[in-house]
Parts: sequence; C-alpha cells; structure tokens
Amino acid sequence: MATNKIALVTGGSRGLGRNMALSLAKKGIDVILTYHNNKEEADQVVSMIQSLGQHAAAFQLNAADTKSFNGFIHQVTAHLNAQTGQSTIDFLINNAGTALYAPFMDTTEEQFDEVYNIHYKGVFFLTQKVLPFINDGGRIINISSGLARFAFPGSSAYGSMKGAIEVLTRYLAKELGSRGIAANVVAPGAIETDFGGGHVRDNKETNAHIASVTALGRAGVPDDIGGVVAFLCTEEARWINGQRIEVSGGMNI
Ligand SMILES: NC(=O)c1ccc[n+]([C@@H]2O[C@H](COP(=O)([O-])OP(=O)(O)OC[C@H]3O[C@@H](n4cnc5c(N)ncnc54)[C@H](OP(=O)(O)O)[C@@H]3O)[C@@H](O)[C@H]2O)c1
Repeated sequence: MATNKIALVTGGSRGLGRNMALSLAKKGIDVILTYHNNKEEADQVVSMIQSLGQHAAAFQLNAADTKSFNGFIHQVTAHLNAQTGQSTIDFLINNAGTALYAPFMDTTEEQFDEVYNIHYKGVFFLTQKVLPFINDGGRIINISSGLARFAFPGSSAYGSMKGAIEVLTRYLAKELGSRGIAANVVAPGAIETDFGGGHVRDNKETNAHIASVTALGRAGVPDDIGGVVAFLCTEEARWINGQRIEVSGGMNI
C-alpha cells in the first residue's frame, strides 16, 4: 500500500496555517503542524484532520529560535519513524509569523531583529535543517505577503523580510531542482485572522479600506488561501517552480 504524502506546516494552530493544514488533509495529505503557544488550538486542528481520515500531529516550535531546530526535527523524525518507519516528509510550508506595524523612523533594532528572526532567519535555517528529510520530488512553499509588492506605511521591516523570502525562494528553486524539489511563494493579501491583533478582521475602517483597494471588493478570509497552498502540493502543480503567487483578490493592482 502506498504511504500518504506528509506536509509540515509551521504555525498550523491558527489562521492561515490552520486552513492550509485542513486543506492539505482534504487532499489526502498527512500533516505535521507546529504551534508556538496555543497547544490547545493545535490539538483541535489535529483532531479535525484525524476526523478527515488523515494522520496528524502537533509539535511546539519557536520559529525565531534557530538553536531549538535540531531538537524539534529530532522530535518530528522520531514521531514519523514510529508511525511510518521512515523519517521523511514531502512538503514544507513555512507559514509561522507575527505582525509588526511600526513607521520606519520608529522601528527599533529589537523589533527589527524579532521580525528578521521569525520571518527570514528562521525560515532560512529551518528549511536548511529540514531539507535532508524532504523526499526528492517534494515541495517548499514560503508564505510572503502582498506587502512585499506594494508599500503600506508601517510595514518597512516586515515587508522587507517578506521580500527577502521571495528572493530566497528563487534560490531554493534553482539549487534544489536537481533533487526534483520545487519551491514557490504564496503571497496573501490582507486576510481576516488574529494576525496583528486581528485588525483586518475586527477594525471596521481597516477592513473597509482593504475592500476598497481590492478588485474583488472585500478583505480576504483564510478559506481564500489554504486551498492554493494545498494545490501547490498536488501532482497537477508539479511544473510550477520558483514562482510568486499572490492571493489577494487583486489588492492594489
Ligand atoms: N493575515 C494576513 O493578513 C496575512 C497577510 C499576508 C501574509 N500573512 C502571513 O501569513 C502567515 C500566517 O499569518 P496568520 O494571519 O495566519 O497569523 P495568525 O492567525 O496570527 O497565526 C500565526 C501562527 O503562527 C504561529 N506563531 C506565531 N509566532 C510564532 C513563533 N515565534 N514561532 C512559531 N510559530 C509562531 C502561531 O502559533 P500560536 O497559535 O501558538 O501562537 C500561529 O499558528 C504569516 O507568515 C504572515 O506573515 C498574513
């Protein structure tokens, strides 16, 4: 019997990562997801995936703490070995992240380092360390943002890190092609999640502004995103490589 493909989704306890994890499971893919603080919500996602008939497990990860990555990978591979007799996965989705809204002139070095650690350094080195456990023919999907294409005041540090992820993704696609591994970016527009205190969802003015600059006339919801990530993990998407796919309903076009 063929074994299922396995995806590792960082930040799968809430928001977009949760939606990605569930969308992957609906496509018959098993999921390892991570959480930072919210174990309870991560466990709920695991139960939902299991009720869809797929294997799932959740592990704690601080994406900003590169020193913890070896221990994290050891836990995940030990779990996979016990479950499948192999310690490999097929898809890595680098999604975990937090928001920073600060004007350029007010951004402190501490804030900069925090965004850098979570959104760039963490993604760089987690991918490097997970790569030996990604099967040839696998996929890497990095989550960027519309803010890497258009400038919105208050997002200079965050938007720059997302820009860096987009460049990194092209390098990954180039260097990993020999192993048949494709790497792509999904760049959501503004989506109604807990991100940044939930302001896209909960602040009426922000929500209305986003709707007004979006061709399809509303802010995004998690269901707009997860299916696109899951699609990139299918056989139909096998020739998509080194691409940035913006999923924003046509924001600021
Ligand atoms: N929402 C948007 O408008 C939007 C737009 C473009 C791009 N994005 C990007 O999409 C990704 C997900 O955002 P979201 O809207 O789903 O955010 P969210 O609802 O706030 O969820 C964030 C997720 O990341 C995890 N996380 C937070 N800090 C972490 C850390 N230091 N280490 C590991 N995991 C951590 C959280 O775990 P806990 O539950 O344990 O806290 C949670 O699972 C981020 O990369 C974000 O930059 C979001």
